[in-house]
Amino acid sequence: MWGPAVPAGLRRLKMKLNKKAATVTAVFLVELMSPLWWPPTVEAPGELLGGAQVDARVMGILRRSCADCHSDETRYPWYSYVLPSAWLVNNDVRHGRERMNLSQWEGYPTLRKERLLSEIANQVKDRDMPLAQYAWIHRGAALSDTEVHAIFEWTQKERVRLIEQKP
Ligand code: HEC
Repeated sequence: MWGPAVPAGLRRLKMKLNKKAATVTAVFLVELMSPLWWPPTVEAPGELLGGAQVDARVMGILRRSCADCHSDETRYPWYSYVLPSAWLVNNDVRHGRERMNLSQWEGYPTLRKERLLSEIANQVKDRDMPLAQYAWIHRGAALSDTEVHAIFEWTQKERVRLIEQKP
């Protein structure tokens, strides 16, 4: 008496489960792209390195290789809108901005600028920046030796200028 009833019931159960799995998967995929994970955008970013004396070449290098994490002018890639990569990208941007935000440079106290300038010099000379995972994806972000040199020279010049400017 169980004979034919079982397979039919099982089939129905299986279909139900399949439907459920499809719904769960769909919801999961939509959640991965939820605006909750989207990166924050800054409406009116301040001038990059405002108040600093920096030539177009060095500015171009910093804009290309550093500004995505160290300014409010981040050019977010599509994967910064999707989990799990959104977490990784947005973490780098958040921490990068906290440590040094070139869009807020003008408002930094002189001492902080001086310290950051020597930090920039150290980071590029040691090739710690741009972050390896970033340079790996953004092939054009890696710095050549002459670019490292140009940034280094600029940091020295700008530090001297700041120190001489002090009353
Ligand atoms: C992919 C994101 C990313 C890029 C691109 C990047 N940085 Fe960073 N940077 C960070 C993060 C994150 C930190 C904080 C690291 C930590 O706390 O260990 C940091 C820290 C720093 C610091 C230390 C600031 C301090 O408080 O001492 C300096 C200086 C710096 N970066 C300079 C640069 C320069 C110059 C470039 C471009 C050549 C660059 N970074 C590119 C993410 C980035």
